[in-house]
Amino acid sequence: MTATLLVIDQGTTSTRAMLFDAGGRVLARAQRELPQHFPQPGWVEHEPEDIWRDTLALAREVLAHGATPVALGLTNQRETTLLWERASGRVLHRAIVWQDRRTAEHCAALATPDNAALVSARTGLVLDPYFSASKLAWLLDQVPGARERAERGELAFGTVDSFLLWRLTEGRVHATDASNAARTLLFNIHTQEWDDELLALFAIPRALLPEVRDNVADYGVTTLFGQPLKITALAGDQQAATVGQACFEPGMIKSTYGTGCFLVQNTGSEVLASRHRLLSTVCYRLEGRTTYALEGSIFVAGAALQWLRDAVRLIHSAGESETLARQLADTGGVYLVPAFTGLGAPYWDPLARGAIIGLTRDSGIAHIVRAALESVCYQTRDLMEAMQADGAARPASLRVDGGMVGNDWLMQFLADMLAVPVERATVSETTALGAAFLAGLGAGVYGSLDELAALWRRQQRFEPGMSEERRAVLYQGWRVAVARTLSQPE
Ligand code: G3P
Repeated sequence: MTATLLVIDQGTTSTRAMLFDAGGRVLARAQRELPQHFPQPGWVEHEPEDIWRDTLALAREVLAHGATPVALGLTNQRETTLLWERASGRVLHRAIVWQDRRTAEHCAALATPDNAALVSARTGLVLDPYFSASKLAWLLDQVPGARERAERGELAFGTVDSFLLWRLTEGRVHATDASNAARTLLFNIHTQEWDDELLALFAIPRALLPEVRDNVADYGVTTLFGQPLKITALAGDQQAATVGQACFEPGMIKSTYGTGCFLVQNTGSEVLASRHRLLSTVCYRLEGRTTYALEGSIFVAGAALQWLRDAVRLIHSAGESETLARQLADTGGVYLVPAFTGLGAPYWDPLARGAIIGLTRDSGIAHIVRAALESVCYQTRDLMEAMQADGAARPASLRVDGGMVGNDWLMQFLADMLAVPVERATVSETTALGAAFLAGLGAGVYGSLDELAALWRRQQRFEPGMSEERRAVLYQGWRVAVARTLSQPE
């Protein structure tokens, strides 16, 4: 019988448990939506006990299919910040989600030219509320007694991976992996260590921090599912998706369309410092060797459709958007800029807010829905242009995954807007597949990355077909629309 691998994929809007066989095929899956809390405009929180309860229940549900996995791999929404008591495991506040902007002022106050340069040189990131450090500082300042207790070593900080690992090992392991650590603003991606100057900048006591390990490592054993189960891999979800898309060669690139959209290009063993406000980050660290990536992060992709469905109720389901988009030859000049939580790369404007512009008397629901879909493609082009301006090669193709890529119309418009072929993988759950691949490497199911690359399968390829002139006109309109949402003129 082939080995099976259990994966927990804890995402922003849902938690999933999946079982894979060694061929990368899905044997079982279970999923639950995660409630979102918006206590104030721009704030986003998750209830940690919801995350934990769902994780346990979903893992038990897939294991009820009778399989005995050889290892567990964990992958997660990155940057989301938690603080808990070491003695009891009790979490002191709701998790502050990566999309949360409550620390925009703190970040702006810290962002002197010297500090911005320090942060960028050490972490490859920008001084933005997106990342964990300012969120953790907020928790230490706002939760009564937290700072003193943190200094006494009574508290632990973690992103969602560390929190789940702590709970799964019943407090025996407080660790994270290099791809998650690289998103905190506290980790030096060159030395692969927590950085004292950054800790001082954000006033974070070192005693809070987890130990940083390779993506494939001994993360301990959980005994919560009957037989002891080894935890052999941890990875941030976008890095796991890069592994699941088998982007192992420098220059290979993937884009995941979930809540947000994350374009990640493998840059090999060198850190490619971006001059166009992209992020340099850890792609994966295996056997102590770090592979780096250039990343563009867009905060709202699928979340724009969720907004159309749940907040303004223009559609009943995300699936309906494809039918509506196909009804029109174009949006008639309507653009939707989904800057609901500010704009990420390459603009980094936490104070930008969303807009629909170009409305006329004959604009209808279909125009707005199509404009929302198109915004995802324009934003991807923003990122790809920035990557190329940073010296990255024009990729041979873009590998795509995530909830939105089932929309054929969207994939075709994406290929047209990028003038790059778009390849959809057979396994749409690429993030979970990547975590299974890593867990399998740790359990000896696979011997090398080449073996994993051979398992990647394309389901469909979309060739660019739009004229250069139309492409340029449409994109220019997008640039004008974005300029109108920025808090400061470009
Ligand atoms: O950086 C945030 C990212 O990791 C969240 O991904 O898939 O939960 O939207 P997702």
